[in-house]
Amino acid sequence: MRYGNADLQGKFVLGPMADYSDIAFRLLCRKRGAAMCFTPFANAAAIVRGIPATLQIMKTCKEEMPVGIQIFGSDEKIMAEACRIIDQKVACGELFASCIDINFGCPSGTVTRAGAGAALLKNPQKIAGIVSACASASQLPITAKIRAGWASDNSMEIARAIERGGAVGITVHWRTATEGRKRSCGWAVVGEVKRSVGIPVIGNGGATTPEKAVQFLQEAGCDAVMVSSGALGNPSIFKRANWLLSGRLPEPAGWNEKLEDFQEYVRLAEKHGILSPKPLRSHAIKFLSGFRGVKKARQQLNLANGVEEIIAIVEGFTPAPHL
Ligand SMILES: Cc1cc2nc3c(=O)[nH]c(=O)nc-3n(C[C@H](O)[C@H](O)[C@H](O)COP(=O)(O)O)c2cc1C
Repeated sequence: MRYGNADLQGKFVLGPMADYSDIAFRLLCRKRGAAMCFTPFANAAAIVRGIPATLQIMKTCKEEMPVGIQIFGSDEKIMAEACRIIDQKVACGELFASCIDINFGCPSGTVTRAGAGAALLKNPQKIAGIVSACASASQLPITAKIRAGWASDNSMEIARAIERGGAVGITVHWRTATEGRKRSCGWAVVGEVKRSVGIPVIGNGGATTPEKAVQFLQEAGCDAVMVSSGALGNPSIFKRANWLLSGRLPEPAGWNEKLEDFQEYVRLAEKHGILSPKPLRSHAIKFLSGFRGVKKARQQLNLANGVEEIIAIVEGFTPAPHL
């Protein structure tokens, strides 16, 4: 399927995750079979002001293509200007992107109080205006990521507004912004959106195992499935979901495989100049999670100051045997 201006070679993509879907993690997920990845969301106003930390969040490279650069904001003029800036950076080879993805799904108070992210779900007309302004400002295709609605499901109306605005793809997280994470399955919402628009639809939410990712894809009938939290510390979920889709039954990843993936993350982070204690610690904790006996290692990680120390803790970890 085509998403943005790229033909995807697979059905499972890595979702945008603030503090986690950094360039090294995206490259790792691509190596492990993700068909496409998304950067964490970047504040459109900060892009326009040229804030270095925000430009760092948007940093992408040629080898990871296809990749979507995600932005958020509430003012269509600023959003359009941010798209124009990204477009120029892509045109001159400073950035790489197959689409600019607009976030209409973040439920966090700091984002919604500013009228951005999921707050816009209350106003499909405004969403259409933002998408249209962004599409006019940029040669790069525009895509959007939504939730089903603010407090109730109006996903079809929102999706049609996005298509009307000129977007070429849409990702639908089937939960509403206010409902939390309790409900574990609402894939039908994604199927309804798929049937109500003509642009490609990626389903998202709860694809936390290869089995659930494949089931989501097949039951919702969407074009692809976005895996976000299920890939944290577990990039080989993409390989396993691909295997499962082709009829091969995968075993869960053991510690040796996880350790190799962590070490590969470290190599990629070093190569791309982002190896530093804070993100490395966050990733390390995710790689360890789910194994027996991680409590002590987690405590050590929380106290560790340097990159070498964090790597040594992960490399020194051995899962406790099952009794
Ligand atoms: C740590 C974290 C950071 C996230 N940051 C973003 C983000 O920057 N942009 C976005 O659209 N969604 C973000 N999300 C939401 C996910 O992309 C996804 O929509 C949500 O977690 C549901 O999918 P999942 O069940 O596969 O995790 C984030 C989620 C997590 C767990």
